[in-house]
Amino acid sequence: MRWRCFNAIHILINSLGIPFASSQNRSIFANQRHDTMPKFDLYANLLRPIAFRMDPERAHYATMRLLGIGLAIPLVGWALRRKYAVTDNPVEVAGLRFRHPIGLAAGFDKDGRWLHALKALGFAYVEVGTVTPRPQPGNPAPRLFRVKADRALINRMGFNNGGLDALVERLKHRPAGLIVGGNIGRNKSTPNERATEDYLACLNGLHAHVDYFVVNVSSPNTPGLRELQERAPLTALLGSLSAANDLLASQSQAPARPIFLKIAPDLSNAQLDDIVAIVQETGISGVVATNTTISRAGLSTPPSAIDEIGAGGLSGAPVRARSTEVVRYLSERANFPIIGVGGVEDGPSALEKREAGAQLVQVYSGMVYTGPSIIRLCAEAL
Ligand SMILES: Cc1cc2nc3c(=O)[nH]c(=O)nc-3n(C[C@H](O)[C@H](O)[C@H](O)COP(=O)(O)O)c2cc1C
Repeated sequence: MRWRCFNAIHILINSLGIPFASSQNRSIFANQRHDTMPKFDLYANLLRPIAFRMDPERAHYATMRLLGIGLAIPLVGWALRRKYAVTDNPVEVAGLRFRHPIGLAAGFDKDGRWLHALKALGFAYVEVGTVTPRPQPGNPAPRLFRVKADRALINRMGFNNGGLDALVERLKHRPAGLIVGGNIGRNKSTPNERATEDYLACLNGLHAHVDYFVVNVSSPNTPGLRELQERAPLTALLGSLSAANDLLASQSQAPARPIFLKIAPDLSNAQLDDIVAIVQETGISGVVATNTTISRAGLSTPPSAIDEIGAGGLSGAPVRARSTEVVRYLSERANFPIIGVGGVEDGPSALEKREAGAQLVQVYSGMVYTGPSIIRLCAEAL
């Protein structure tokens, strides 16, 4: 029993990559060949099995809290930073210099609570939000579901967030050396006719605190939101935001923030053609492709189990091919930057987005299934 305990601790310490542990304990393990030690991944072997026994939303908060605690303990924090360190591979997009092309997609850290921890895991940039002007609770729980057989998630969170003011307060303490994007939306109670006011409020409030903006008109979980992807309302919205962005920049004598538009994978080719024209017409910087899908095609999970989950956006492996297709379609028709997101879970899937024309790549569901090692896996593949 004591021997098994020693072994477990040794494996854990090795998995964190603390070098002196293996040399100091060499005598204890003298009769155990290192190449016969099981390969231990802290996330896949320990954290994920525990987290997957919990409700997905609770697991999300618990895992991030645990990471925060780990980072605050000097030796563990040092070991985690060392374990997840990512070599620089700089890329310049829309006037911003990213350490490497891998970032965290919107929705994971909606309220900007974990930026220091996420930087320690190796992300070059994190997109906070979607934030709305006023705090809102989102949809009733349960509202986040694992579809394990498909390495996917279904969510109908509904822009639960603590509101603009709370986010601004946190961003005043954002870590240096991490690019932060602000993903902005409208409150559920704001009708589409007044949506521009909400987006403008977020743009104004966040302008001094983020490096770029993402206009989210593609979440399937806010009723009516995706109607803003139609040509006329989208041109008006992006035109207003672009003008306000220029005005704020001239007032503060700082450069205007790049604005990206986040689109759904469910748009038709004709709608994608409109997007290309609108981006060029309104002078925004580029596109984030894509958000979650409302499609349930091609899943191996039985339809009855999927029906039981109900409405929401599907993310993870099943959205990979379509989101890559959207990236490719846009990049073949436009020369603006594209941030590729959807189903990235390892090096090859990140490379696929790059080869389809994305300059930057984001992950979300891959953090749940692969764990934080995904950041280095992807960064090293690009
Ligand atoms: C639980 C959850 C919440 C999300 N919330 C947001 C959000 O608030 N705003 C947004 O633009 N995208 C949101 N997304 C979409 C992701 O940013 C991403 O575009 C999508 O999940 C596809 O990437 P993935 O396959 O790597 O997960 C959310 C996704 C999930 C799974």
